[in-house]
Amino acid sequence: MICGSLRKGSYNAALARALPGLAPAGLSLRPAPSFEKIPLYNFDIQHSTGFPAEVNAWADAIRGADALIIVSPEYNWSIPGALKNAIDWVSRMKEQPFKDKPVVLQSCAGGILGGSRMQYHLRMSLTSVDAIIFGRPEVIVTFAAQKFDEKTLELKDQTAIDLVKQQLAGFERFARRQIGKG
Ligand SMILES: Cc1cc2nc3c(=O)[nH]c(=O)nc-3n(C[C@H](O)[C@H](O)[C@H](O)COP(=O)(O)O)c2cc1C
Repeated sequence: MICGSLRKGSYNAALARALPGLAPAGLSLRPAPSFEKIPLYNFDIQHSTGFPAEVNAWADAIRGADALIIVSPEYNWSIPGALKNAIDWVSRMKEQPFKDKPVVLQSCAGGILGGSRMQYHLRMSLTSVDAIIFGRPEVIVTFAAQKFDEKTLELKDQTAIDLVKQQLAGFERFARRQIGKG
């Protein structure tokens, strides 16, 4: 699981924490290392000192997973910069970690579109790194503040819970087909 938000009280991080409880028994989920400390992409750094340790750690976690769930907010109608920066870094690797990796997307946002524009942009970027992206159902959590418990940040919206369960069940079948384990 990759979370696109770095903030402590993140709704997207809260959704990611809820996923193991909503996933089918065959899916074993764990969080990817944070990309918070990854420097801004600069070819000169890559060229002179190689990939930073944080980038290698992130790439290794992606390589080690059979499939990926990306849960992310939308920033200014698109992919949060820190997440895009991490993708840009690993996209330059010879053994590119997203290649042929089944990926499913989820988003929570404050507004009426629930991060859907970010999802469309992320689909494009992930296609450019040869990921295999799950189609539907989409998980788009609109008006996020109303869907999580104010204090515990537990996902309390039954429609969202049902949709997540449906998506993860479909994603497990999809991912197993893609990686030949189904
Ligand atoms: C820099 C920035 C840009 C944002 N742009 C959008 C946007 O384009 N669309 C949207 O629905 N919400 C936008 N928001 C509001 C986020 O949906 C809201 O802050 C959400 O809670 C962020 O996700 P998180 O709780 O996981 O951190 C933006 C927030 C920030 C901080």
